[in-house]
Amino acid sequence: MARSAMAGLLPRALVLLFLAAALISGRSRGRASQVFVGSQAHRYDRHLASRRALTAAAESRLAQLASMTTLSIDTGDLAIIKQFAETGLITDATTNPVLVTKAGLSGDPVYVALVDEAIKYAKKKGGDDMLALAMDKLAVNLGVAISKLVPGYISTEVDPRLSFDKAETLKRARRIISLYEEAGVPKSRVLIKLAATWEGIAAMAELEAEGITCNITLVFGHVQAVAAAQYGARLISPFPGRVLDYQKRIQGKDTWQPDEDPGVVAVKRMYAYFKKHGHDTICMPASWRPSRGPGHDLDEIEALAGTDRMTIPPAFLEQLLQSGGELPRRLDPATAAASCAADFRRLMKEDGCATEKTAEGLEAFIADTNKLEAALKEKLAVA
Ligand SMILES: *[C@@H]1O[C@H](CO)[C@@H](O)[C@H](O)[C@H]1NC(C)=O
Repeated sequence: MARSAMAGLLPRALVLLFLAAALISGRSRGRASQVFVGSQAHRYDRHLASRRALTAAAESRLAQLASMTTLSIDTGDLAIIKQFAETGLITDATTNPVLVTKAGLSGDPVYVALVDEAIKYAKKKGGDDMLALAMDKLAVNLGVAISKLVPGYISTEVDPRLSFDKAETLKRARRIISLYEEAGVPKSRVLIKLAATWEGIAAMAELEAEGITCNITLVFGHVQAVAAAQYGARLISPFPGRVLDYQKRIQGKDTWQPDEDPGVVAVKRMYAYFKKHGHDTICMPASWRPSRGPGHDLDEIEALAGTDRMTIPPAFLEQLLQSGGELPRRLDPATAAASCAADFRRLMKEDGCATEKTAEGLEAFIADTNKLEAALKEKLAVA
């Protein structure tokens, strides 16, 4: 009884929520465009033509990708974020030290205003870590501006110099969240970005337990992904392109088929592990290289189509938008979970000790079993 009444109410509650969200985001979008776009008119004009194309290209490869993978844009440029967010195909955005530094040093009046406000804020608060506070406040100011343009998550990095200091990381992460909340952005929309060091992962475990969601970044190896998932990270950001860079150097090889690209293989393995073992940790790759070499910028993106989320820089979003044709889904939860057997065999083959000693051990057991069986057979025949 109670349950069916709830079931009736739920869709209505969702519709109301949706309407409220649409109203709020519509209002803040209007405000954001007045504040940010005016001063970036030149850049914005340059993008107007492609923006028209954006809305027209409903069946672009970008639209196909967005239908299976939630997309995030990799830029701190508010005008560009706005332009892509308006297509409805981009859900999240991120700040990182490079983007914040660029914004902070750009001289562009929009960003200068964010810097000035951060300085004023830190001076007013005083204290002995005024400089660190000003830096965090600047990252949050940029994040707040971005949060008005996209409906989803916005990531903010804890000072990367604290990547090996759990206690300091916790302090700064909690402060970043309170700065967001002070500015009216709820913590449910913020991801605290932490490097996949042991201390970063340990800090993440505590933050997640407090309801502060984290984006574990700089993930290159399986062990980092597994630890992040086991300790409850909301999201990981593996970098297939940089894994490829490394393997190119180590193997002295320049090109791969996209499916064999070591970066693609690494991310697929993380994704499969999460699906197989029921971790809800989101697998969100970023950093892309052409597996087959120049002219194939979208190789890794296409080879991982279907993963939970992806972060893509504007230039590649544009390419996806301009290219037609079908973009097949390559990753899905059920097949990924089933692929673990192949993964086990591959890893086993790579492990000389496990392969050799398992075979040797089995042979010895089998030889003894055969001996025993022969002896019993004789006794049975005699009896
Ligand atoms: C998580 O961090 C990575 C690395 O900086 C970034 O590319 C990605 O967009 C972030 N994810 C979200 C949802 O903000």
